[in-house]
Amino acid sequence: MPGKLFPIGGPVAEEDIVDREDFITSLVTRLSEGQSVMLYGPRRIGKTSLAHEVLRQLKVKGFYIASVDLFRLSSKRALAVALINACLENRTGIRKTIDAWKDRTKTIAGTAKLAIKLQDLELDLGLSQGEQSDEALLDYALNLPGVLAKRDKKPVVILFDEFQDACRVAGTGIYKKMRSYFQNQEDVAYLFLGSKEGMMKTLFADKKEAFYRFATILPIPSIPETAWAEYIAKKFRTRGITSTPEAIKEITRKTGGHPQDTMVVCSELYYALLEAGQNTISLEFVRLGYDRALLTLAPIYDELLDDLNLSFTGRQVLKRIATGTSIYSIENANPNEIKRTIDHLLAKTVIEKKGRGSYTFVEPMFRDYVLREFF
Ligand SMILES: Nc1ncnc2c1ncn2[C@@H]1O[C@H](COP(=O)(O)OP(=O)(O)OP(=O)(O)O)[C@@H](O)[C@H]1O
Ligand SMILES: [Mg+2]
Repeated sequence: MPGKLFPIGGPVAEEDIVDREDFITSLVTRLSEGQSVMLYGPRRIGKTSLAHEVLRQLKVKGFYIASVDLFRLSSKRALAVALINACLENRTGIRKTIDAWKDRTKTIAGTAKLAIKLQDLELDLGLSQGEQSDEALLDYALNLPGVLAKRDKKPVVILFDEFQDACRVAGTGIYKKMRSYFQNQEDVAYLFLGSKEGMMKTLFADKKEAFYRFATILPIPSIPETAWAEYIAKKFRTRGITSTPEAIKEITRKTGGHPQDTMVVCSELYYALLEAGQNTISLEFVRLGYDRALLTLAPIYDELLDDLNLSFTGRQVLKRIATGTSIYSIENANPNEIKRTIDHLLAKTVIEKKGRGSYTFVEPMFRDYVLREFF
């Protein structure tokens, strides 16, 4: 059985990363030189896919790599353990190093080997007794990348995904603490990813914030239509499906080239063709695939709308942006509330500014969903 034709739902493997080669090379180069980088971008734009590919390439170049997804964590201790495990995996090849370390009852030989591999890292953390305080464990974890780089004479690159969640996980003091460790580490570079653009920019560009000027801030470039067209046509060809440039163009025209949405439309289009026993992509099939994709994405969009928690005026504003009408002529609306809604939608990267007083949806399919379902 061949695998899914179009990958959806998580980070994609190297061969399915459309375009981005130059950007990936640039990231690998910067990180190789020890420059830390912060990448921000709206939801499902391909941040994690990019970062994983960058780490993969760095590993091939001989770097130690470690990645921690803050979205999955919920305590200081969990953060410390995740970082320690990710760092030590470079030496041991074992994902859950701390569990293995704790589990001394397992094969004595295995534990002994692990002890030898880790002995110079003073890993006598009293983990099995749980006696180490969370704070001390976190200090140890944040210090570890630097220690590892020095001991093993290896450059290290650490990825923190969903970095804006660090304060939820470990409290607001975490950024200051992290910076105090990270800034003194030689041969360690950090890659920070975040989906809350406003918050990430504040963290890294506001003079008062702990990470001010610690990393270069880069937006994620969009994927050009031509790169999508080439990829989509090629993918369908592998299954004996032919297409016209117009039909393929229609896909990215409708999705705006948004990575996740484009993949979902292609995937639904593919299944629609299979069900109908067709092997030519027509405009009608593109439309069918698109409609089905909208249904597939509905739960995600509903969640997003719930999360936005808009007031009556807020909904009017969203609707006006979707229809492209003026937001300032809503009857009986308080101008402050309109402004607050705009700021809120910008912070959530639902919309982006086009010009003075003019905004558009970041995700054309979400716009379509709002128009079709929300009103
Ligand atoms: N460069 C790319 N080429 C093709 N498809 C992509 C690319 N990047 C992302 N995608 C599509 O978008 C989906 C989401 O990718 P990924 O998880 O990397 O994004 P993200 O920005 O980290 O998302 P989240 O906001 O959920 O963290 C993938 O499953 C894939 O379908
Ligand atoms: Mg991600």
